Amino acid sequence: MRQATVYIDSKALQYNLNRVKQLAPTAKIVSMVKANAYGHGVKDCLAALSSTDAFGVACLQEALEIRELGYLQPVTLIEGIFNADEMTTVIENNIEVLVHHSVQVEWLLEYKQQYIAKDLKVWVKLNSGMNRLGFKASEIVDVIHSLKAAGFTCVLAMHFANADAEDHPLNEQQKNQFLQVKQACEPILASCCNSAAIFKWPELNFDYVRPGIMLYGTSPFANKSVHDLDIQPVMTFTAEIIALNHIQAGESVGYGSTFTAEQAMDIAIISIGYGDGYPRAFPKQNYVSIQGQKTRVIGRVSMDMIAVDVTNLNVALGTAVELWGKDRLVDDVAEANGTIGYELLCRLSARPVRKQI
Ligand SMILES: Cc1ncc(COP(=O)(O)O)c(C=O)c1O
Repeated sequence: MRQATVYIDSKALQYNLNRVKQLAPTAKIVSMVKANAYGHGVKDCLAALSSTDAFGVACLQEALEIRELGYLQPVTLIEGIFNADEMTTVIENNIEVLVHHSVQVEWLLEYKQQYIAKDLKVWVKLNSGMNRLGFKASEIVDVIHSLKAAGFTCVLAMHFANADAEDHPLNEQQKNQFLQVKQACEPILASCCNSAAIFKWPELNFDYVRPGIMLYGTSPFANKSVHDLDIQPVMTFTAEIIALNHIQAGESVGYGSTFTAEQAMDIAIISIGYGDGYPRAFPKQNYVSIQGQKTRVIGRVSMDMIAVDVTNLNVALGTAVELWGKDRLVDDVAEANGTIGYELLCRLSARPVRKQI
C-alpha cells in the first residue's frame, strides 16, 4: 500500500492547549477548529481538545460536524450565519453566532421577537482597521445597545491584522479602538486575541482567547520558531522511498528535465506529490528530512512523486521520509515555498492516510 501518511499527535495538541492555558489563565479558550482543524482533521483533534471551553468555526456545516461527533461545548460561528434560514438550526444545536453586518442583526432581532424567550449570547464584531468584517467604532455601540435591549448577552470581538508583526502602527490603533468601544459598552464580555496576540499581549486576554495555529504547533511569527515559543508540532507528514536510481553526470531528473546532475549521484523516488498537497516550491528549493538529515528535493514535484538526493545516505526501499513534522518544520517548508504554514496544512488533499498517535 502507498505510504503517504498524516500522523496527528494528540499529546502535542494537548500540550499546546495547556500552553494557551498557561499564557491566558483567566480567559476562556475558544479553540479554532475551522477548515477541518487547520487541515489536521476535526475528528482526530477534538478528543485532545476536549478540555477547551469552546470551539470556533467558519460556518454552520463545521459546527454541526462537531455536534455530530458528540461534543457539547459552545461553538461560535466566527462569520455568523449566511442567511436567516440558518437561525433555527443554530438555536436547535446550541450554537453561538457572530454579527458583523446590520442584516445579521435584523435576523437575530426578528428571530428573538418571534420565538425565543431564553438568553442568547451573540458576538459583535468591531472593524478596527483590518477592513474585513465588522461594524465601525462609530456604529457598533448602537448595535450593541439594541442587542442588549432585546435581551442578548454580547461579546465584543475584534481581530488584529498584524498581531504577528514586530511593531506595526495599526496594532496600537486597533487596541485603542477596542478599549474605547469596550468602555462605552460596559458591562460587556470581550475577545480579541488570536495565537500571536496571546503570546504578545497578556493584558488583552479578557474573557475569551481564540487560539488557532499555536494549537497545531506552528509558529504565528516569521522570526520565532516553535522551539522559541515552546509549542509542539502536531502533524507529521511522511511518505517512503519507492525506487532508488544511480545517475551519471549530465543525466536529468523529472518533468521538464530542470535538474541535471553535475556528478554521479544516488537519487530516491518518494511516493508524494502535489496530488497529496506537497507544494511545488518552484523556483525555490524544497527539502525533506530523512533519518533526521535535511535532504534536497531535485527536479520538479510531480502529482504523485518527488526525487531527492540521497548520495552518501544509508537508505533503502521503504525508508521513511518526513515532508514536514518535528524535524522539518512546516514553517520552514512554507518559507521555502513563499507561503505560510497555515496554507500548507489546510490544503493537504484527502489522499494521504490519516493516523492518530
Ligand atoms: C476571527 C479569528 N479569530 C481567531 C483566529 C485564529 O488565528 P490564529 O490561527 O492566527 O491563532 C482566526 C484565524 O483566522 C480568526 O479568523
